[in-house]
Amino acid sequence: MLKHFLQFRDLSRDEHLYLFERARVIKSRFKRYEPYHPLADRTLAMIFEKSSTRTRLSFEAGMHQLGGSAIYLNTRDTQLGRGEPVEDAGEVISRMVDIVMIRTFEQEIIERFASHSRVPVINGLTNEYHPCQVLADIFTFIEHRGPIHGKTVAWIGDSNNMCNTWLQAAELLDFNVHVSTPPGYEVEPERAGLYGTDHFESFVDPMDACRGADLVTTDVWTSMGWEAENDARMKAFADWQVDAEMMAVAKPEAVFMHCLPAHRGEEVTAEVIDGRQSVVWDEAENRLHVQKALMEYLLLGKLET
Ligand code: CP
Ligand code: NVA
Repeated sequence: MLKHFLQFRDLSRDEHLYLFERARVIKSRFKRYEPYHPLADRTLAMIFEKSSTRTRLSFEAGMHQLGGSAIYLNTRDTQLGRGEPVEDAGEVISRMVDIVMIRTFEQEIIERFASHSRVPVINGLTNEYHPCQVLADIFTFIEHRGPIHGKTVAWIGDSNNMCNTWLQAAELLDFNVHVSTPPGYEVEPERAGLYGTDHFESFVDPMDACRGADLVTTDVWTSMGWEAENDARMKAFADWQVDAEMMAVAKPEAVFMHCLPAHRGEEVTAEVIDGRQSVVWDEAENRLHVQKALMEYLLLGKLET
C-alpha cells in the first residue's frame, strides 16, 4: 500500500518505533563501512521551494549510500515556478522516479502533490510541519537517554513547524511537551493537527516550561516565509532565549537540541548550544540515518533486522 510521510502522525506508533530501531542498525552498519544498497536503481526527486543545507545533503547522500540516486529540483529552474499546477507535477514526476521529497510553503501544497503521486512523498519541511527533523531528534534522544515515553520536552520560542511536529509526536509516542511562546505566538491546536491536548501544557514564563524537563529545545525566531516580520519578532521573542539559567532548572541530565541553522545570541546563547548538554551535531547527523530508514521503509516495507 502506498504510504506518504507528510506529517508525523502519517505513521503509527509501531511504525515510528520500527524506524528508530532500523535507523540504529543502518547507522551502525554505515559506521562500520559496510556497503548496503537495498535501493539500487531507485531514484529520489527532491523539490525545494525554500533553502536547505541539512535536508538536501542528508537526503542526497542517504539515497546515494543506499545504492540509488537523487535529483535536486527547485522552483526557479522547474515549471513549478512558472505556474504548472502542483497536481500535474505530481502526476508527471511520480511516473519518472520512485520516491519524492518536497520542501515547500503551505502543507496543502504537499498534500495536493501527494494526492496525485504514484510514489511515496516525504515532507522535507512545510510552514506547518518538519517531521523528518523530529524523527531525527527523537532518535537522538533515544541514543543519549533511552526511550522518550513519559519524558518532558520543553519547547521555547515560536509555535512553528518544529513545535507543531513535537506536539504531534508527543500524542503518538506518549510524552509531554511544555510550551512557552511570547503572547501572540501561541500554539494553534488545529494548525498543529492535534487530536487532544493531553500531552502539552502552555507556560507564560519559559523558566517554568524548562523546570524538570528532560530535553530543552528551540528554533529560529523567524522561520522561512516570515522574513517580513523579523524586526517585530526580534523584540517579541527577546525573553525567550534559551540560556544557562533555563538549562539549570531542567533536569541535570537534560539535553539541548536545535534543528539548525541557529542564531547564537538570539534564540539560544553560545554557552548553551556549544555547551556540554548540547547534542545538536548528533541531531544533525541523525537526519541522514533516520531518513535512510524512512526511505527504505516507504519503498520496501518492514525488514528483518
Ligand atoms: N534542520 C534543517 O532542516 O536544516 P536545513 O534547512 O539546512 O535543511
Ligand atoms: N522553523 C524553521 C526550520 C528550519 C530548518 C523554518 O521553517 O525556517
